[in-house]
Amino acid sequence: MFLPISLSLATALLLLFPSVVVSQDTSLRTVKAAFDKANITEAADITFDPRDLLEVAFPQASGPDVLVHAGVQLPRNQTAIPPVFGIQHTLSSRETSSLFVVAMVDLDAPTPQAPTEAQIRHFLGGNFALGHPDARGLALLSNSTPALSEFMQPTPPAGSDPHRYIFLLFQQPSNFNSQTEVTATTSVENFNISQFALDVGLGNPLGVGTMLLYVISLLQAALVSILTLRSQKLLTFARESSLRTVKVAFDNANIPEDADLIFDPTALLEVSFPQAASLPVDLIVGERLFRNQTAIPPIFGIQNSAFSSAVKETFVVAMVDLDAPTPQAPTNAQIRHFLGGNFALERPDAHGVALLTNSTPALSEFKQPTPPAGSDPHRYVFLLFEQSPGFNEQADVNTTTPISNFNISQFALDVGLGNPLGGTFMLVGPDPTTSS
Ligand SMILES: *[C@@H]1O[C@H](CO)[C@@H](O)[C@H](O)[C@H]1NC(C)=O
Ligand SMILES: *[C@@H]1O[C@H](CO)[C@@H](O)[C@H](O)[C@H]1NC(C)=O
Ligand SMILES: *[C@@H]1O[C@H](CO)[C@@H](O)[C@H](O)[C@H]1NC(C)=O
Ligand SMILES: *[C@@H]1O[C@H](CO)[C@@H](O)[C@H](O)[C@H]1NC(C)=O
Ligand SMILES: *[C@@H]1O[C@H](CO)[C@@H](O)[C@H](O)[C@H]1NC(C)=O
Ligand SMILES: *[C@@H]1O[C@H](CO)[C@@H](O)[C@H](O)[C@H]1NC(C)=O
Repeated sequence: MFLPISLSLATALLLLFPSVVVSQDTSLRTVKAAFDKANITEAADITFDPRDLLEVAFPQASGPDVLVHAGVQLPRNQTAIPPVFGIQHTLSSRETSSLFVVAMVDLDAPTPQAPTEAQIRHFLGGNFALGHPDARGLALLSNSTPALSEFMQPTPPAGSDPHRYIFLLFQQPSNFNSQTEVTATTSVENFNISQFALDVGLGNPLGVGTMLLYVISLLQAALVSILTLRSQKLLTFARESSLRTVKVAFDNANIPEDADLIFDPTALLEVSFPQAASLPVDLIVGERLFRNQTAIPPIFGIQNSAFSSAVKETFVVAMVDLDAPTPQAPTNAQIRHFLGGNFALERPDAHGVALLTNSTPALSEFKQPTPPAGSDPHRYVFLLFEQSPGFNEQADVNTTTPISNFNISQFALDVGLGNPLGGTFMLVGPDPTTSS
């Protein structure tokens, strides 16, 4: 029932479902199977028995980060910005306090048929430490020193088949920083990651048996091959654990009462905030987010399992602030932070989440939460409605209608939206530095 989830198993989910270990295994198996299928271990002379999931995400100039899935092709233009690395926090405490080395090599330069320049070293860096795991159990890896080889964008020559670019994570040996085999001026061509690992003591790829796991310390890896075929929509939604959890959270926060709504969700609405320089933040119902995590317009999705009959329908999504200017005296509430229609479901991804994309501009485009200085955190509520036939003719709200003193309940009534099908909410307080 739990498919491998890329980045984002909510901590709550981990606590609620011990069987999540199974899904972790499944993911590791998936990665290993992808490596085997692509003959990576043979081509790179590595023994690959991953224990933990290395996550690799390419930030984009606009739009959400693109997550690398083992074996999935990416268009080259999604790989321009140096990737961000993270690990699911299933490591032992010993590993949590250690440092890591990350390598990215191209096994197929200039072509897979005649890889005479391979491997090309596209990235090699040490002194990566694990950050604190986020609510979704993902710990970012950040390095405290410049890389030995800074990131170089994949550039297979014209006419070449796609190349296999592999990312490898090693536990860093104590003397790694004194190695002299690779420096910033060492040619990136004809590199041999297996030989390097051997020389520098990252692990002994010639070891056998269970020793491999511990000696090689090859924790995980991911593979991406680059091609210009299709850009995968890659999202990293947290999965809301259940409709009941969402309903209880709404009730506990008094949202149905304060927004004059009957909230009895039948669909799990997923909301994900892309980040400029890190992995997306997937909203867990009732979670408190920093304001700076909500700068980029969110992306919406629905877990399709409970919702497969709705594929042909269109939807309306709304986001309102119930607490403006303050929860104690919400005299401007509701503030309409987003209101858009003509959202359709895309095909569900491997994780069972179907993206919602709108084919028309929103009536109110996204406005970042900005509670005034000194205010308690506000409740920002996201609601999903089935779109009514008359929605596109409604005259209640247009792009020039003031966004304050909005009433989503009244709007739904006027436009015939009925009760929300699903929803979620977050708490956002003012920036600590906000003055005035
Ligand atoms: C892997 O190796 C097998 C056998 O040598 C070959 O048939 C297959 O095409 C290779 N796959 C890739 C992706 O190179
Ligand atoms: C890379 O290094 C490994 C370990 O020394 C060796 O077995 C392998 O033959 C080397 N590969 C190439 C292409 O030189
Ligand atoms: C990226 O490349 C693909 C295929 O080459 C193309 O369809 C797409 O429009 C490009 N995207 C951007 C943002 O340039
Ligand atoms: C976001 O804001 C929080 C608290 O206001 C701060 O600790 C954090 O460093 C900020 N992050 C970024 C990326 O600015
Ligand atoms: C928006 O609605 C107001 C009030 O109904 C109307 O006066 C105005 O012309 C509308 N603006 C647009 C751009 O449709
Ligand atoms: C919002 O509209 C609903 C439905 O008409 C109404 O019951 C409620 O009193 C309104 N709320 C406010 C604050 O005006």
